[in-house]
Order: sequence, then C-alpha cells, then structure tokens
Amino acid sequence: MVQRGVILAGGKGTRLGELTKVTNKHLLPVGAIPMVYHPLKKMTGAGIRDILLVSGTEHMGDFVELLGSGAAHGCSLTYRVQDEAGGIAQALGLAELFCKGERMVVILGDNIFHMPLRPVLEQAEKHPNYAWVGLKQVPDPGRYGVAELKGHRVVSIEEKPAKPKSEFAVVGIYIYPPDVFDVIRTLKPSQRGELEISDVNRYYMEQDRLGYTIFDGYWTDAGTLDSLFYANQMVRENPPVF
Ligand code: G1P
Repeated sequence: MVQRGVILAGGKGTRLGELTKVTNKHLLPVGAIPMVYHPLKKMTGAGIRDILLVSGTEHMGDFVELLGSGAAHGCSLTYRVQDEAGGIAQALGLAELFCKGERMVVILGDNIFHMPLRPVLEQAEKHPNYAWVGLKQVPDPGRYGVAELKGHRVVSIEEKPAKPKSEFAVVGIYIYPPDVFDVIRTLKPSQRGELEISDVNRYYMEQDRLGYTIFDGYWTDAGTLDSLFYANQMVRENPPVF
C-alpha cells in the first residue's frame, strides 16, 4: 500500500476575501478543527505515517506551531516551502526528494469528504503503475477539473471548462507513481499562469494509465465562501469518517 502522503496547503486564498487576509485558508475552521486536520486525519486513518506538508512562506510557521512533528497525530511530518504560488503541479514537484522514488497519495488541503481514504488506496493498489483520481458528480462541474467517461474509461479531462462534458469533477485526491515528477518537468504554465494538475492527469489518461474511484457521500472543496459554508454544514450534519 501507499506509504507516503503529500498535503498541498499553499495558495493565496483570494476567493475567501477578508477571511484569509492574515491567515492561510487551511487554518480556518471546518467543524471543530482547522481545515488542514481533515486531509491529515484522512491520511493517518488510512495508515499513512510519513506526510509532507507544502505551503508558502507566509504561514508555514503557523502550520509548524499547530502540527509540530506530527507525533500528536501519530505521524511524522516534513515541511517544504513553496516560495511562490505556481499551481498545484508545481507544489507537488517539491515533493520529489520526500517521495524517494515511491508512490504517493496527494490531497489538496481544502478538500473535505465523507468517506475514508483506505478504500481508495486499496482500489489503486491493483494498478501500482497507474495514476489514480477521485471523481464526484457535482451540480457545478465548471468550477473544477472535469472528466468525461466512456464505458469505464476516462476519455477527456479539462480544467474549469466553460462547457463541461460531464458532471464528474476530478476531486483533489490523487495517487501518483514516482514518474509523476518527470511528467511535471514537461509542463508549461496554463492561461492562469499555473502548472495544472489536470495536465498531469491527462498525460496518464493518454498513456492508458489512469484509474479512478467514484466518491461516496459528500465531497467539496472549501476554497470559496459558499463552499466553506457548505463544508461546515456537511461536517456538522454527518461527520467525516477518518
Ligand atoms: C483544483 C484543481 C481542479 C480540482 C480542484 C479540486 O482547482 O485544479 O482540477 O478539481 O482543485 O478541489 P483549484 O482549487 O485550484 O481551483
């Protein structure tokens, strides 16, 4: 099984306005705990003990103060600074040394979901050389990466398309084989000036090395005022399974 986890907790959080003026989005509350506890507890609940957290310079000290060595959470934490926000794929590129040539699970720090992580890792285990993504039907797919399915296969992936080809959002939970770092090195910035994780996923799709799990229960990001409110509502009504 996958042994290493990467939590991406950078970004400016501009979509949250005044809430992120003096703090990082992932330190805001979701339920009774800071947002970043959610991906952390998903990982430790699935038996992952070696975890890397990537964030910017501004609030890394706060993450260290909050989480320390990880001992209180039953894991060992490593921290890596992303000097400037350059996209999810760029942030993941910083995990290369940490991953030591092994497969890893990556969670975007603002993704909140009900089901535990372990079944996803177990499904992905059947194809150790594949990249693995989560999919979830949502009412507003154009906000996300969107996957089009034919039969059981993903046949297209588009980042925030104006005309989504399906209702399936690609959620921010990914498993990658170690060659992901070679893929990241070939990427060019998108129109929004970022190295896009959808370009990474499309590479594996084109190679016929992309699998997926359709997520049960709720899933949302928490990066906008509406979705942060929704995440809090979901977590209170039906606590996530770690
Ligand atoms: C990112 C990814 C997108 C994914 C989403 C999940 O979007 O680019 O493909 O569907 O996370 O939360 P962002 O939050 O950067 O807009």
